[in-house]
Amino acid sequence: MKKTIIALFALAAFAGTAFAADVIELKKGVTFKHKAHQESLKDCTKCHATNAGGKIEGFGKDFAHKTCKGCHSDGKKGPTSCKECHK
Ligand code: HEC
Ligand code: HEC
Ligand code: HEC
Repeated sequence: MKKTIIALFALAAFAGTAFAADVIELKKGVTFKHKAHQESLKDCTKCHATNAGGKIEGFGKDFAHKTCKGCHSDGKKGPTSCKECHK
């Protein structure tokens, strides 16, 4: 019985780190719809190092302007002007 409870707690703790918020409020007024991006891109490695996701090493202005804006302008979909991202 005790083992089952421990296993359940372990599972809950794991689930807590495996999922990100649907919408992430980034700095400088940028609202990022994480879930919508996951669903439309279907590939975590567009942004993350691996398909497990998690914190992005060195995330900030350079990453955002290169990776986020880069994909938007390459695909001609998604915001590329300052004010569309920085509300
Ligand atoms: C378009 C880019 C993008 C895609 C695609 C994406 N993510 Fe993310 N994800 C982010 C950003 C940005 C953050 C916040 C980064 C940070 O705080 O380091 C984040 C955060 C996370 C976090 C929370 C990290 C933490 O501890 O706060 C998890 C977990 C995660 N993503 C998993 C995934 C998984 C799994 C997929 C694929 C199904 C995925 N992501 C696809 C951009 C993306
Ligand atoms: C690999 C491609 C790709 C990457 C990387 C990417 N996006 Fe997007 N993003 C899109 C596409 C495609 C859309 C348009 C979705 C639509 O209109 O259906 C979009 C739309 C958006 C929108 C407008 C959606 C809305 O309704 O609010 C914002 C804001 C946005 N992205 C922010 C970001 C940020 C911030 C990052 C980096 C953390 C990022 N994106 C990374 C492809 C990408
Ligand atoms: C695709 C969305 C997007 C576009 C377009 C965009 N930015 Fe950003 N910008 C971001 C994100 C995301 C961050 C990082 C937020 C974080 O660190 O959480 C950022 C960070 C910044 C920072 C903060 C620097 C710091 O370290 O404090 C400045 C300043 C900035 N952007 C200015 C601009 C200007 C000026 C433009 C237009 C030329 C622009 N951005 C276009 C998404 C965008």
